Amino acid sequence: MMKTTTLLAVLLVAAMAQMGHGIPDQTPQGVENWFKRLPNAKEKLTKLHFFFQDVVSGPKPTAVEVARSKLTANSPTFFGLTRVFDDPLTVTGSPDSKIIGYGQGIYSLTSQEDVALLFTFNFVFTDGKYSGSTLSLQGYNPLEAKYREMAVVGGSGIFRLAKGSAVASTYWANATTQDGIVEFTVYVLHYDVDGDQYSQDI
Ligand SMILES: *[C@@H]1O[C@H](CO)[C@@H](O)[C@H](O)[C@H]1NC(C)=O
Repeated sequence: MMKTTTLLAVLLVAAMAQMGHGIPDQTPQGVENWFKRLPNAKEKLTKLHFFFQDVVSGPKPTAVEVARSKLTANSPTFFGLTRVFDDPLTVTGSPDSKIIGYGQGIYSLTSQEDVALLFTFNFVFTDGKYSGSTLSLQGYNPLEAKYREMAVVGGSGIFRLAKGSAVASTYWANATTQDGIVEFTVYVLHYDVDGDQYSQDI
């Protein structure tokens, strides 16, 4: 009995050392154990709120053009324009607000009728309790609508097997420079897996 207890203690310390950032164990064995415990897991709802800062102009853009079509220059809706972005996610809408992560991905102008984008991107969290976890999103983003809803199609770490909805709303924009700040409210369903010590306090 003594031996079993000691062995368990050693394994627990080793597992905790590997976990690091407050995210579930991401080794293949750790992920496998998590999935085995999933049938007893509880689904939970987490709400996130932050601002997404898209800088196109100036010497330090966070969104860069990687493609456009021959039609784009004459298109009133910028049809075909494609940018890759690595946009800071901040606590407030101020440009010097604290950064809690990055929105990284691609958007393309995909409508000939409206200024509307296909967004395919990840939220990569780098600060606070979600640091080391990610959400993957995809959706339709018509810029003229007050609220645009995009799908949370998955996630990693704390957000493993996530699904949900992200609501984007323009907080500030300059039509000349095309710089913009977008307010995001995100509703995420994910799991509290029994025995996962880090999922208890989020
Ligand atoms: C938009 O940016 C242009 C170019 O920097 C600037 O001249 C203009 O004042 C800005 N407009 C607003 C509403 O901030």
